[in-house]
Amino acid sequence: MTASSSHIGRTGVLVLAAGKGTRMHSDKPKVLQTMLEEPMLHYVLAATAELAGKDETWTVIGHGADMVRAAMGDGRTQFIEQKEQLGTGHALATAWPALKAAGVSHVLVVNGDTPRISGGVLQGFVDKSIAFGADLAFITLTPPDAGAFGRVLRKNGRVTAIIEAKDYDEARFGPCPREINAGIYCIRAAVLDALLPRLGNANKSGEFYITDLVELAVADKLTVLGAEAGDDMNLLGVNTPGELAAAEEAERERIVADWLAAGVLIHNAGQVRISPRAILEPGAELAGPLEIYGSSVIRAGARVDSHTRMTDSSVDSGAIVRSFCHLEGAVIGPDCVAGPFSRMRPGAVLEEGAHVGSFVEMKKSRLRKGAKANHLAYIGDADIGERVNIGAGVITCNYDGKNKHATVIGNDAFIGSNVSLVAPVSVGAGALVGAGSVITKNVAEKTLALGRARQTELPLRKK
Ligand code: UD1
Ligand code: CA
Repeated sequence: MTASSSHIGRTGVLVLAAGKGTRMHSDKPKVLQTMLEEPMLHYVLAATAELAGKDETWTVIGHGADMVRAAMGDGRTQFIEQKEQLGTGHALATAWPALKAAGVSHVLVVNGDTPRISGGVLQGFVDKSIAFGADLAFITLTPPDAGAFGRVLRKNGRVTAIIEAKDYDEARFGPCPREINAGIYCIRAAVLDALLPRLGNANKSGEFYITDLVELAVADKLTVLGAEAGDDMNLLGVNTPGELAAAEEAERERIVADWLAAGVLIHNAGQVRISPRAILEPGAELAGPLEIYGSSVIRAGARVDSHTRMTDSSVDSGAIVRSFCHLEGAVIGPDCVAGPFSRMRPGAVLEEGAHVGSFVEMKKSRLRKGAKANHLAYIGDADIGERVNIGAGVITCNYDGKNKHATVIGNDAFIGSNVSLVAPVSVGAGALVGAGSVITKNVAEKTLALGRARQTELPLRKK
């Protein structure tokens, strides 16, 4: 909670996120469309979290409700299901009993498809609405292109109605205004019981519009405020792939600029994409094109080169991730080197000073301190001891068609090139496994293991 939120302590936040998002041409609910790999709804809930805790935050879901629940978890908001999506007004009416029971004094309604909204802007708007004594307030914008957004009608400067673009009839309402509705409302709870039952659906979409509350409130002589936010493009709703791409690019630029300002070195910054959830330290060095997603962490003094994509992975101080690596749930310890062209899957851990090189794939495996696998290897379900050398072409055969099995290699062992380790199997500390061996039985410490046909030479027959 922000310091200034105490006086609006009983403001409930309602996020509308039940719609399908037809214009995205996707089976995914629109609020799960992503920017920098995080759903749009993540951004909206991150902003509302600055004003209200989970107990005061509700999200209306409907289309793909289970997917939304699963993607967002239940730590940030309470969910309310709108079984049939009959419009934004119907969404508010569906949620209203829960907010009323919670005893909120005001309802801040935010469309779930407005991902660039910030907590500061929402807080400022709520403060302004309450100071104005508004029964119903909403944010308006005057963008260069008013598109398909709802148009704000005013008479002598005072708001009289919001008319959806598709319902706008110039013969009836006069020239189409450029001022639009941003889809963010602050409504005094006390007026909702009187207004909500009067919403109708006699419009082009046959939907119950939240925006019709404006005309109803004006008819009741309530205090209505259209809070002008000018051309702040951050408040524009996202409805189409083009709008999503524009919002994502703006967010990307903002995040990169913030990390530059914090002291992260970023080369080719125009092609670096960083998740809003990632954590970087001043003194980390990055080169684009580069993608850093999820809860990735890059420590001071670490370097990540171009063409790498990492998700939920960490790179510790002094480590270098060379170009073209693909990291997913991986841990790159201090002073390690990965890549170029390494694939680190979930549970891959490099301890201090370990190296993985080109075309090495690791999964659920650990290279302990100083261990190396520099070329062409598959290391799965394996625990590789300190200073072990894994030769080119080594494969842990961890899967028998049904189950996965472990490979354990003791400290200072040396695994020659093109060795197949048929798990479950272990190689003792200090052991040497000859090149080309297929190892099916455990190898004792400090022994030389060979599991291959001996070389023979036969005379060639003369023709
Ligand atoms: C809405 C506004 C429009 C405004 C624009 C700003 C209405 C009628 N119009 O239009 O004035 O300019 O936002 O971006 O409100 N939703 C539900 N349940 C429903 C329908 C929608 O939860 O039954 C949710 C959607 O998931 C979405 C939000 O409400 O997050 C807005 O719905 P959408 O259909 O995108 O409204 P717009 O046509 O963009
Ligand atoms: Ca919309």
